[in-house]
Amino acid sequence: MKAVRKGIVACGICFLFANNCISQTPVLNLDFTKPGATVSPMLYGLMTEEINHAYDGGLYAELIRNRIFKDNKNTPEAWSLVRTDSASKASIKLMAATEDNVPFDERRHAITGALTTCLRLTVEKAGGKIGIANEGYWGIPVKPSTAYQASFYIKGSGSFQPPRRPGQQAPANPAPVIEDNTPGPITVSIESSDGKTVYASGTITLEKSIFWKKYAITLTTAADVKPTTDARFVISTDRVGLYYFNLVSLFPPTHKNRANGFRPDLIKMMADMKPKFLRFPGGNYLEGPLITDACPWKTTLGALEQRPGHKGSWGYRASDGLGLLEFLLWCEDIGAEPVLAVYAGYSLNGDHIDAGPLLQPYVDDALDEIEYVTGDANTYWGAKRAADGHPAPFKLTYVEVGNEDWFDRTNSYDGRFKQFRAAIEKKYPSLHVISTIADAQYPNLKVTGDKKPEVLDEHYYRDSWAMWENASQYDKYDRNGPKIFVGEWATREGAPTTNLNAALGDAAWMTGMERNSDLIIMSCYAPLFVNVNTATATAPKAWQWDSDLIGYNALNSYGSPSYYVQQLFGNYLGDKIVPVTAENIPTQPRPLSRRDSANGITTAPLVPTVFYSATKDEKTGAVYLKLVNTTGKKQPVNVNLNGVGQVLPAATQFVIKGEKPEDTNSITDPEKIIPVKSVVKGIAAKFKRTLDPYSVTVIELQTGK
Ligand code: AHR
Repeated sequence: MKAVRKGIVACGICFLFANNCISQTPVLNLDFTKPGATVSPMLYGLMTEEINHAYDGGLYAELIRNRIFKDNKNTPEAWSLVRTDSASKASIKLMAATEDNVPFDERRHAITGALTTCLRLTVEKAGGKIGIANEGYWGIPVKPSTAYQASFYIKGSGSFQPPRRPGQQAPANPAPVIEDNTPGPITVSIESSDGKTVYASGTITLEKSIFWKKYAITLTTAADVKPTTDARFVISTDRVGLYYFNLVSLFPPTHKNRANGFRPDLIKMMADMKPKFLRFPGGNYLEGPLITDACPWKTTLGALEQRPGHKGSWGYRASDGLGLLEFLLWCEDIGAEPVLAVYAGYSLNGDHIDAGPLLQPYVDDALDEIEYVTGDANTYWGAKRAADGHPAPFKLTYVEVGNEDWFDRTNSYDGRFKQFRAAIEKKYPSLHVISTIADAQYPNLKVTGDKKPEVLDEHYYRDSWAMWENASQYDKYDRNGPKIFVGEWATREGAPTTNLNAALGDAAWMTGMERNSDLIIMSCYAPLFVNVNTATATAPKAWQWDSDLIGYNALNSYGSPSYYVQQLFGNYLGDKIVPVTAENIPTQPRPLSRRDSANGITTAPLVPTVFYSATKDEKTGAVYLKLVNTTGKKQPVNVNLNGVGQVLPAATQFVIKGEKPEDTNSITDPEKIIPVKSVVKGIAAKFKRTLDPYSVTVIELQTGK
């Protein structure tokens, strides 16, 4: 009881000091007298998966949604019939050839084993423009003077009748025969959603053939076109006939002009963060809703004609246009190394495969996948990769077994991890295998097998209070235990992208990781991407997860305040940790939560309001001092550079700040909160800086090498 009362008094005093329990100026003592620990060279990276339309409708530049018509068995989602003359008669219909009982007539509509569903346009009475339209991923982005590469499979056939087997009866109700007069011009265009404005258009000549043929055409917009997403893609005819379509594609210019490539703006945003690795393909996306839905890397390879796509884990189908090779090219494009997550026999419905012979095919599949990434062209899968266009193996250091296997409360991960690790280490002794269960987070489920995992993956999704409260958690970790990979983390405030307060939580947390980067070998924020479109009459809301790093629609993209924190921390990171001791760090009481009351905590815990870390680049002598002020008040800080020797009087400073914690960036106001660079003077072995309210500051000091 006494303790509680004392707590309340202490808390009252805190409020008197207006969230500043200690009134003396905080002091940071940077110690240059002895060499600090080495900063992990892979400390900051990216985590990615197909969530929030990160790939389809995001990084993967394809503009046609549902291009192989498999998104919905019952209806051609994102497609509609275009008919400008009401006297005309036409319809569209999905033609699936996947069922065994599909008649020969329909089975012949398959192009490959992957392209088994097509769209049929039936024009019974011509008149005006008749065609099929695709609405894209919340619109087709139109930009001036832009060349779009359109392609599609089409065949026209009308009077073709399937040959009858000997003795086979003629169908009782044969479909009416439409004259086979489809050959001729087919118009391909990008036009406004109401069809009134044509932004770019061209014609292909459909040959008279009952067989599929791929046609391609470049559509170029005029210089005076105003950028818009209010547009659709249309393929149209003026003639009666049956027209079948499949693998309809439209690409705008891509990064490096690569076919089947990426959006240049998003590649640039990632590269600007200087990430050292990319963790893929998940996340939940790795696991799939059921064991049979696990991310199927083998069917994501090769020609698009061979990629059926798969179910995905976030409520929509994945085209797999961004497949395993594209992930690896993505790594190359942003200068990052892959951190490959392999499926470990546990899926989101809670089902798992026990260690032993039944798990072995999954282990073998992981070994194949590693061979595809790292094998030379003399290996089976390395040769496949070479045939896919990348003869050189990719560098791979870390493989993660599964994702968040702590959800599997049967404790089967212990055996599964052991089986995977043994096989991976045997075939690839130089690889480091990561466990998805971390001792600190799940002590009852941790891997206990014959030897400790080398690296444990911890995940933290918290609010800013929890980030501030736990920012120093790694100061206390055992240095003799496994290394830590913080494989997913974020301060979850703001939607669809995070706000300034989240960025303050992130920055505080990152100072803790950076200070402990002898232990934290890698870390990556999640989720990385979000398509920010809300629901329309024909398409659902684009995102499933609030609080993401980079937002976009079909036309534009922007970084959240958290993105800019990541960018600063990634760009200004030395190779040695400079030890810092602190005095007079102010605190504020954290509001009590429901979990506190459940745990019997009745006194508001005090959490720091100032966070810090320092690193040094030994080659250049640059020292990066990172400071976070989470309050709405200016905060003076005294800095002592003990044993620094030389330091230049002028330093470069970057500040991210805002007026209130809720301030944010958005698709319409993309740069409200961005880092502002300036030169600060008066730097010496002892100096004072005043931190702006709600701010993250990085000071680049120039010291002797
Ligand atoms: O980042 C979103 C999800 O959070 C990931 O897919 C999953 O691993 C975690 O639970």
